[in-house]
Amino acid sequence: MQDIQRLSGELFPLLEPYKRLMVIGPTDTGKSTFIKNYALYLISRGETPYVVDLDVGQSDIGPVGTIGSVKATKTFTLLEELPVHDLEFFGFSAPSHDIISYMHCVHRLSQKLPEGKKVLIDTTGWIHGYEAFSLKLSKANILDVDAVLLIGEVVHRWERAFSGVGIRVFKCLPSKLVVPKDKSRRKLNRYAATLRFFEKCPLAKLDIKRFPAWARELKDPKHRILGLYTKKFELTAVAWVLDVQEGMLIIRVHKLGQETPTFVRVGQKISL
Ligand SMILES: Nc1ncnc2c1ncn2[C@@H]1O[C@H](COP(=O)(O)OP(=O)(O)OP(=O)(O)O)[C@@H](O)[C@H]1O
Ligand SMILES: [Mg+2]
Repeated sequence: MQDIQRLSGELFPLLEPYKRLMVIGPTDTGKSTFIKNYALYLISRGETPYVVDLDVGQSDIGPVGTIGSVKATKTFTLLEELPVHDLEFFGFSAPSHDIISYMHCVHRLSQKLPEGKKVLIDTTGWIHGYEAFSLKLSKANILDVDAVLLIGEVVHRWERAFSGVGIRVFKCLPSKLVVPKDKSRRKLNRYAATLRFFEKCPLAKLDIKRFPAWARELKDPKHRILGLYTKKFELTAVAWVLDVQEGMLIIRVHKLGQETPTFVRVGQKISL
């Protein structure tokens, strides 16, 4: 069996008939690079694919703790150059923190995807154990996936489950070109990505006591990421707490809509 970067050129035409492709594999196997290259291939074929990033730990679309989708209207180097189609706030860097809320975000995102367009779905590298397997199958079902690319020997064992529910399975080995990232490198990357995302956003003050908050814990809010919602449960802004002064949160805020928030969801700390 060939590895992913060698197989890419051969796989792209074989994948073309399928509407919704999900790429599944362990961390550092070349998933995101494959999706980016396949999106560029589809653009060269005159298509406008949507790319979905479900990797809350290091999304290429929104800040850490979010999942999102972009519309690939033109060739690109980084996904963040493309117009954001949808962003959903989860608040943690791993789905295992709160699987129910994570799946709720996936469900909301799926409802906002268009019919009739190619959708390429990137996932986290969490593949060990029953929960990981169950989560991937549920996501494939919610997002109406019709093809999966399984990278690496461990997930090749999932082939029967996916083909059993009518999903076409493609398999390959991990990319040999990936330089694996250790835990501290991932933490550093998360911090750098958060800084990059929020650095151009305006500063604001938030009196969190005025809002109903959805939080695991509210003490020590400094460096936490926040999702601000309307009463219709639409995400209207994401924010990062820089400091706490006299009970007020000093935040950088990235607005997604014009409506004023009515409740706040408090995520994890992103700091060095
Ligand atoms: N085909 C390739 N050609 C050149 N470099 C590659 C290729 N695939 C992966 N890489 C390198 O390896 C790095 C990690 O690859 P990538 O982000 O695609 O893996 P991943 O499986 O999505 O990782 P993660 O589990 O962290 O999401 C990339 O930043 C890139 O530098
Ligand atoms: Mg990735």
